[in-house]
Amino acid sequence: MSTAEKATTSKSLTARLQVEDKSVDLPVVVGTENEKAIDISDLRKRTGYITLDEGFVNTGSTTSAITFLNGEQGILRYRGYPIEQLCEYCDFVETSYLLIYGKLPNRHELERFRESIRHHTMIHEDMRAFYNGFPRDAHPMAILSSVVGALSTFYQDSLDPHDKEQREISIHRLLAKLPTIAAYSYKKSIGQPLMYPRNELSYCENFLHMMFAVPTQDYEPNPVLVEALNLLLICHADHEQNCSTSTVRIVGSSNANLFASISAGICALWGPLHGGANEACVRMLQQIVADGGNVKKYVDKAKDKKDNFRLMGFGHRVYKNYDPRALIIKKACDKVLSQLNLNDPLFEVAQQLEQVALQDEYFIERKLYPNVDFYSGIIYRAMGLPTNMFTVMFAIGRLPGWIAHWVEMHESPTTRIGRPRQIYVGPTKRDVIPIDQRD
Ligand code: ACO
Repeated sequence: MSTAEKATTSKSLTARLQVEDKSVDLPVVVGTENEKAIDISDLRKRTGYITLDEGFVNTGSTTSAITFLNGEQGILRYRGYPIEQLCEYCDFVETSYLLIYGKLPNRHELERFRESIRHHTMIHEDMRAFYNGFPRDAHPMAILSSVVGALSTFYQDSLDPHDKEQREISIHRLLAKLPTIAAYSYKKSIGQPLMYPRNELSYCENFLHMMFAVPTQDYEPNPVLVEALNLLLICHADHEQNCSTSTVRIVGSSNANLFASISAGICALWGPLHGGANEACVRMLQQIVADGGNVKKYVDKAKDKKDNFRLMGFGHRVYKNYDPRALIIKKACDKVLSQLNLNDPLFEVAQQLEQVALQDEYFIERKLYPNVDFYSGIIYRAMGLPTNMFTVMFAIGRLPGWIAHWVEMHESPTTRIGRPRQIYVGPTKRDVIPIDQRD
């Protein structure tokens, strides 16, 4: 299904723009959820002007049929299905299929998909040698992006983004191998032997096995953690044109291969204003607990414009309401801690912080609510994951979304290389002065 088929140009609406003595009528594009955009694709040709929108706050980079979100109402749907229903009825592999292929699989399609992913879980033995080259304390996000980029050196026969078969095999390989690549980086960092995947296990069970099993004893993944991991991965699976997804699309628009595009997305996700916020949030909660649990002090710091401290896991470019993912994850957090009989002081502090912030005029006025990263780290801690692996978990979850967008972009007949314009504000023309005459 091409996205271009889904966007309609309104017959009744146009937008009129007056620039100098020229008046231009611009078409209005309407999406299936009645979102409207002014189509400025030939604005420069007609007026000589471009638009300026730092941070792309008002700029749609594409039409897309993958994810709908309404930030005012706190709605998130993948391919039309509400996130709450997907978390209740589907698992992560099924959700990945939905995102990538546009429909929920029937039993047979899902089994074939699972089988194919299982088939590709190992990484090339020569790739394991890479792990010896990284410093022991390397951040696993750096390892993840490097090793994913390096997949294109091992699978040179399937890098053509326009060849459907090559694309398909690369997609399955990547979905299968990312958990293995991630778990190996953890095992290496703690000096334990790398655990091969076990293909009789489910996607999430297998990841926990590769992370926490050792060759000297049996390991049974805890079903409470398996369920929680499934839910977390589903909640992270896509979020339309965010920083990392836009990165994947823009890198892919140059016809770079899938592995190169996803490797770039992983780098974009790493930053603390994006996926790195889950790690930053837990570090912040640890600091608050170590500092005596004075929640109000940190809320005040976040409000102080002279202090660059922000409440991590709070606020969102699009959500001006409670992030629906944060609601789901908070509930799951409660469930996991009580099922495992754990009492995490960070959960207590997080809830207090949320309560204080949500009653504070500063946060109310700016519509700042907990986002997906606020509670997820507490579940990851309960799983025994080290803090620097949290953003890696986000990347594993986001992978099907990145892939779906990369595929959608390549299938759209209207895709062009991503190449924004700018307004130059540097020096006007000047002549080079010979070096011995310069001040
Ligand atoms: N703590 C304190 N103040 C905040 C916060 C916060 N977490 N977030 C936003 N604000 C304030 C800003 O200072 C600004 O105030 P002002 O109007 O007085 O200048 C106002 O709210 C608007 O914030 P912007 O930074 O302009 O909003 P933007 O949409 O550019 O940024 C972002 C969104 C990056 C998520 C921001 O809210 C933030 O930094 N949050 C903390 C980091 C975080 O949790 N990131 C994860 C986001 S979800 C994800 O990517 C998976």
